[in-house]
Amino acid sequence: MALLHPCSCTTPPSPSPILPFKNWTPNRLLFTSPALRRRFPPNRLPPRLRAALAVESPAASGKNRGGDSPEILLEVKDLSAAIAESKQPILKGVNLSVYEGEVHVVMGKNGSGKSTFAKVLVGHPDYEVTGGSIVFKGENVLDMDPEERSLAGLFMSFQSPIEIPGVSNIDFLQMAYNARRRKLGQPELSPIEFYGYISPKLELVNMKVDFLNRNVNEGFSGGERKRNEIFQLAVLGADLAILDEIDSGLDVDALRDVAKAVNGILTAKNSVLMITHYHRLLDYVKPTYVHIMEGGRIVETGKESVAKRIEKEGYNAIPAA
Ligand SMILES: Nc1ncnc2c1ncn2[C@@H]1O[C@H](COP(=O)(O)OP(=O)(O)OP(=O)(O)O)[C@@H](O)[C@H]1O
Ligand SMILES: [Mg+2]
Repeated sequence: MALLHPCSCTTPPSPSPILPFKNWTPNRLLFTSPALRRRFPPNRLPPRLRAALAVESPAASGKNRGGDSPEILLEVKDLSAAIAESKQPILKGVNLSVYEGEVHVVMGKNGSGKSTFAKVLVGHPDYEVTGGSIVFKGENVLDMDPEERSLAGLFMSFQSPIEIPGVSNIDFLQMAYNARRRKLGQPELSPIEFYGYISPKLELVNMKVDFLNRNVNEGFSGGERKRNEIFQLAVLGADLAILDEIDSGLDVDALRDVAKAVNGILTAKNSVLMITHYHRLLDYVKPTYVHIMEGGRIVETGKESVAKRIEKEGYNAIPAA
């Protein structure tokens, strides 16, 4: 394999970099990188970038994660939210419980509120919560800003991933990753060690090594952006990964790679919430539950058969949708 990095190591460094970092402030990272600092003053950093920089590891975060029975990760009760500017209500009483080790799929017609729900979970400033609660690993998420939510272990892959001109993929990931290690009192990884850590993850997503030296998402095709999102998730980790249409625009091989990567990051301790329009993703990533959203609410929850029914009969198969 042709390497852009002067390294041929493939073994992840030891000790495992996946560790908790409770007090890490993602904004600090901005002050370690001249490129990021110039481009994004801390209060203007896009939420997606903050999330990618701040997301916590899946393996050791949270409370009481050592027991055998799955813990509840996310509990959403009667959540309502409006567009911050216009006050137009979008979410109208969403209820959802996600336990460790589960894969939840949210489907629904265009405009039914799926992306809004995902963005409200990570604290996107376009929306205002007007009622209900979100508890993540026992903590009230509504009291947390987006960075804190990321620190708590929430990762979101947006439907339309943003570009970060002037910042290469590998620099971005290495800065985020090393910021964690510093916070943990661990030595930073050198470029060669970091390459050794991410190399197997490149293979997991089947992403060409050239993409490491390209600016984040700049000039990437739609499918390449989606692949890159999953790569970021594989490198940075998460307790709950929210993937908004990670399958859209993917050719059949890319879909298989992305699905393989999602399966690869799943453990008994973390969970995935996937928004999709197509059953084909579920051929590869097996859902624990499929939810149908309509009019800003989850109107039906079932097993994979719900998605099959929709594929065959459309949303008319769901009486409330
Ligand atoms: N920031 C915003 N400003 C104005 N309208 C918004 C905003 N965010 C969401 N909406 C509106 O809220 C509704 C729900 O949007 P959302 O993006 O959540 O739908 P969706 O279920 O993800 O749809 P799709 O399947 O097409 O992605 C839509 O009518 C959308 O136009
Ligand atoms: Mg959407």
